[in-house]
Amino acid sequence: MDETNETESDLTGVPLRRRRKQDVLEIGGRRLQPSTLMMGHGYSPALSEGALKPPIFLTSTFVFESAAAGKRHFEGVTGIRPGGAEGLVYSRFNGPNQEILEDRLAIWEDAEDALSFSSGMSAIATVLLANVRPGDTIVHSAPLYAATETLIAKILGRFGVHWLDFPAGATRQEIDAVLTRANAGRVPLIYLESPANPTNALVDVEAVRASSEAIFGEDRPLIVIDNTFLGPLWQKPLQHGADLVIYSLTKYAGGHSDLVAGGAVGSKAALGPVRAMRNTIGTITDPHSAWMLMRSLETLELRMSRAGENAAKVCASLRGHPKVEHVGYLGFLEEGSRQADIYQRHCSGAGSTFSLYLKGGEREAFAFLDALKIAKLAVSLGGTETLASHPAAMTHISVAAARKEELGISDNLVRISIGVEDADDLIADFDQALKAV
Ligand SMILES: Cc1ncc(COP(=O)(O)O)c(C=O)c1O
Repeated sequence: MDETNETESDLTGVPLRRRRKQDVLEIGGRRLQPSTLMMGHGYSPALSEGALKPPIFLTSTFVFESAAAGKRHFEGVTGIRPGGAEGLVYSRFNGPNQEILEDRLAIWEDAEDALSFSSGMSAIATVLLANVRPGDTIVHSAPLYAATETLIAKILGRFGVHWLDFPAGATRQEIDAVLTRANAGRVPLIYLESPANPTNALVDVEAVRASSEAIFGEDRPLIVIDNTFLGPLWQKPLQHGADLVIYSLTKYAGGHSDLVAGGAVGSKAALGPVRAMRNTIGTITDPHSAWMLMRSLETLELRMSRAGENAAKVCASLRGHPKVEHVGYLGFLEEGSRQADIYQRHCSGAGSTFSLYLKGGEREAFAFLDALKIAKLAVSLGGTETLASHPAAMTHISVAAARKEELGISDNLVRISIGVEDADDLIADFDQALKAV
């Protein structure tokens, strides 16, 4: 939340709004952990009648103290004066709930700054629009979430933007080859998704960073990564060379399947143009969703840890079941494989979203899905409840058959996101559903 003071004035004599109390980030040299900071960071009860929790600020605009203060705010918002808006101006630009949420999002990845958006896709669209120009080439890992692929290839393609891709698990040499080809033109950013939706394939972010530095030098493209599947708990890509981390906060961060929102986390320099684009097109999250997300972040570590532990138990019970062909779970990567190597260097947990390949095809997968009693038959992931879906007939129904085959989106694939229920209850549910196959 913005830091200004009731009685203080700036150097030009313009009075500034009230200052919140300085946040306590360490005690006796001990740096406080995100799970502690989620309870109060960025919010002063004194500024809201002593309310323990921030109120939801349902207002479209904010009253200036004086005409000169209004001018100063707009100089900040429009970039006439560097440093951005110092206070709250208009709810398409910022608001108290969004600013507190953003301060807390940044904490998880020890980032300088964060921005919140109305959806994961609006976060992605705003980051892309802020950086690309006609004639540019976006280099991306493949596969990407289907709507992201559509946005890059079909929508930005209409404005003269090109793309080149490399497979998610690409080696340094393969990444070098694609970046060298792309270097013939302007490359504003390298866009990654790891693990990829829907294959769970991991990208070697460290290799992408090293390759881009070797090929582009100091003027290298921004490295942007969608960390929705493992973040912010199990993978922190800023530590591995990414510049901007994007989230569908709809998933694990929101965590209760009751809101749609997005986020971007990184340096102030990388987020500056994104903030300006968000100010222009209004892709900020609304105050109510921002408030819900703050509540969700208080339990993020608890929820994700429990879901991760549950997934490990459920996957262990499914592996080797006579009706199961394969369990595509990050905890089961083949030792010594490239994916296992990337996992060990980048991830601290295997997550709770995985692919279950049944013996058979669509008939067997549908019989399994229809027999589930606890797990709900729905798309999305990262909620408190366990969800199961059939990508080939649902989220990826429009993907061409050859591409589906290439990505392993077969008719016997069931996608599962494990929640925080009792693990043995889930095991019992999957067991009885497998009997119905
Ligand atoms: C990896 C990934 N990125 C982005 C999105 C888009 O997020 P949203 O639905 O919040 O716009 C999704 C949605 O499923 C996703 O799985």
